[in-house]
Amino acid sequence: MGTDLRIVVIVIVVLLVFPIVLHSTVRAIRYFHKFPIPQFLADLIDNPLRRKIMPPDVLAIRHGIEPGMRVMEIGPGNGRYTMAFARCVGAQGKVVAVDIEPKMIRRVSARAKEEGVTNIEARVADVYELPYDDGTFDAVTATAVIGEIPDPDRAIHEFHRVLSSSGILVFSEILLDPDYPLAGTLIRKASAAGFRPDRRIGNFFFYTLIFKKKG
Ligand SMILES: C[S@@+](CC[C@H](N)C(=O)[O-])C[C@H]1O[C@@H](n2cnc3c(N)ncnc32)[C@H](O)[C@@H]1O
Repeated sequence: MGTDLRIVVIVIVVLLVFPIVLHSTVRAIRYFHKFPIPQFLADLIDNPLRRKIMPPDVLAIRHGIEPGMRVMEIGPGNGRYTMAFARCVGAQGKVVAVDIEPKMIRRVSARAKEEGVTNIEARVADVYELPYDDGTFDAVTATAVIGEIPDPDRAIHEFHRVLSSSGILVFSEILLDPDYPLAGTLIRKASAAGFRPDRRIGNFFFYTLIFKKKG
């Protein structure tokens, strides 16, 4: 093999191996230590590849978000999906974005202001104690968040509480996220918290799960 070809092969191998090693390392660390990801990582997962696989406006439709809905978005990160959800619910609806990180909430508020979106309420809150009455929302949606929460069962019970009787719970996940959970794990957890699976879209690499309340 010529030197040039050898260099090309080495570069390709490094480009392929590096992300896998990085992903596996971060995943191993986060298996033992769950904590909200720093802002730069939230920006890193909001990359062109992810936006191609999960375009914000398409994701809003896939999440079953419709005009007039009251939607709670858990863990909005930098707010890219929040804006799409807000466009989808329109002037008669509202999106409440809650995040445990004040920095993320500031980003969402700033982005809404920049984009002239007025139907978003961004608020610092913990998923275990959402500061809203029972049955307030038509949809609770969490994209690449649930795997980051140390006690997802407790969080899912809280999502059940704030949803109306006809409300939907929606998770979207992508394998690129080091906290990616298997769909089967979320189905088991949601079922134990009083939900039944309604729809599943996507595949192993990226999927959306929609649940309804049982009964
Ligand atoms: C990986 S980011 C995902 C951001 C966004 N949903 C997206 O897909 O681009 C996870 C978000 O969940 C938030 N988060 C983590 N733990 C949380 C908790 N216990 N309560 C509320 N938000 C939390 C983080 O601060 C972060 O904004």
